[in-house]
Amino acid sequence: MRQLVYYVAVSIDGYIADPRGGYDAFLVDGDHAPVVFGEYADALPAHVLTALGIEPPKTRFDTVVMGWNTLRPALDAGIPSPYPHLSQVVASRRPRGVDPAITLTHDPLTTVRDLKTEDGRDIWLCGGGELAGTLLPEIDRLVLKRNPVVFGSGIPLFGSAPYEPRIFVPTGTRSFGSGVVVEEYVARVRP
Ligand SMILES: NC(=O)c1ccc[n+]([C@@H]2O[C@H](COP(=O)([O-])OP(=O)(O)OC[C@H]3O[C@@H](n4cnc5c(N)ncnc54)[C@H](OP(=O)(O)O)[C@@H]3O)[C@@H](O)[C@H]2O)c1
Repeated sequence: MRQLVYYVAVSIDGYIADPRGGYDAFLVDGDHAPVVFGEYADALPAHVLTALGIEPPKTRFDTVVMGWNTLRPALDAGIPSPYPHLSQVVASRRPRGVDPAITLTHDPLTTVRDLKTEDGRDIWLCGGGELAGTLLPEIDRLVLKRNPVVFGSGIPLFGSAPYEPRIFVPTGTRSFGSGVVVEEYVARVRP
């Protein structure tokens, strides 16, 4: 069955963005780049793929799920459909006018459960933290690009999710000279 994979950049102290939603403090360049621009190139927005002159490999993900606050910066930048090579699902509790390529959901948990029953490649949970907190029970794998920086405050990896411990088993850690550590985990199957 296809899996929900939360693939995300995070600070040492567990933040995915600064308090204003920015992520300038994360490293772009460095020897971890082949992970971002190679292995996970399906998770690059179209304008970045175009700038790099590469095609999405279409090997890892065919769907992206994101919260409204994660789509909004793209809209503000005049990009109504940032991942046209993926099926794009955006969570919002309000009526929103969006590009026809985007599917809105007010119930992302049910939407993701339904998507997981369908055939296809894995589903990328892009973020942000609030949506990830909602979808935590359905996350099958975590791929964390842990950046060598402490934010102090910001948007947490799982928003303000309640305290409900869920075990994830580490399956691999790759440390790069850049200081980025790619940590991978799979959710432990509940007995
Ligand atoms: N580091 C990374 O790799 C990475 C990746 C992705 C995002 N980010 C950052 O994360 C930040 C956004 O995170 P965030 O936690 O503020 O917001 P978010 O999860 O992206 O979006 C929150 C919004 O999504 C909708 N939503 C969330 N949960 C929902 C639910 N259960 N049901 C229905 N709608 C739901 C609501 O939209 P409405 O308000 O429209 O109802 C909510 O206000 C951005 O700054 C972005 O840059 C970082």
